[in-house]
Amino acid sequence: MDPHSTSSGARQCLDCHANPKTLGLGYGSFYQEGANSWGFEPSCWVNKDLFGQKRRLDAFVDTEGNPLVHLGRPGLRPFNKRELGRIVKVGFCLPCHKNMEDPVMKSWKKDTQPTPCTAYRKLTGMED
Ligand code: HEC
Ligand code: HEC
Repeated sequence: MDPHSTSSGARQCLDCHANPKTLGLGYGSFYQEGANSWGFEPSCWVNKDLFGQKRRLDAFVDTEGNPLVHLGRPGLRPFNKRELGRIVKVGFCLPCHKNMEDPVMKSWKKDTQPTPCTAYRKLTGMED
């Protein structure tokens, strides 16, 4: 991850909305748990015996929004659970609704995911 604004190109939608590392959750993948919820499967687990650590070393926050590291500056915090949910849900639609010119993205009201289309429901097995 490059945490600073040091590159000339803007990040792509998927770099934030579909990348758990960017969001502070560490390496792994997101999955859908139904029409309106999400989950995260970490791809590496820390060996507790090795470091005496209960937490994965690549994570900054867990899916409940609990911070896993101490932060040195007042006011600095990882995304909370609500924010994570809002961000991750956009990522499920981005493969086809790719940018802000897409009517689905354009009309997305804060915290209100549009009703998923037939294409999406078929893809995720919500509909045969
Ligand atoms: C596999 C590709 C794919 C994915 C993933 C996808 N869509 Fe779509 N969606 C489409 C297509 C194709 C259309 C038809 C749009 C068109 O023809 O312009 C569509 C249309 C829509 C529409 C317009 C009304 C309708 O139902 O047709 C909405 C709303 C919509 N999608 C919401 C979503 C949401 C929300 C997600 C994520 C949860 C999502 N879509 C994910 C392919 C996809
Ligand atoms: C630098 C990271 C970043 C990039 C790049 C980014 N987003 Fe976001 N996006 C966010 C954050 C953070 C939020 C707000 C979460 C919140 O409301 O707490 C957000 C919110 C959204 C929302 C509203 C979700 C809701 O339910 O409120 C949509 C839709 C969205 N982004 C689409 C896009 C699209 C399309 C692109 C690419 C053109 C994009 N984003 C690029 C970080 C990003």
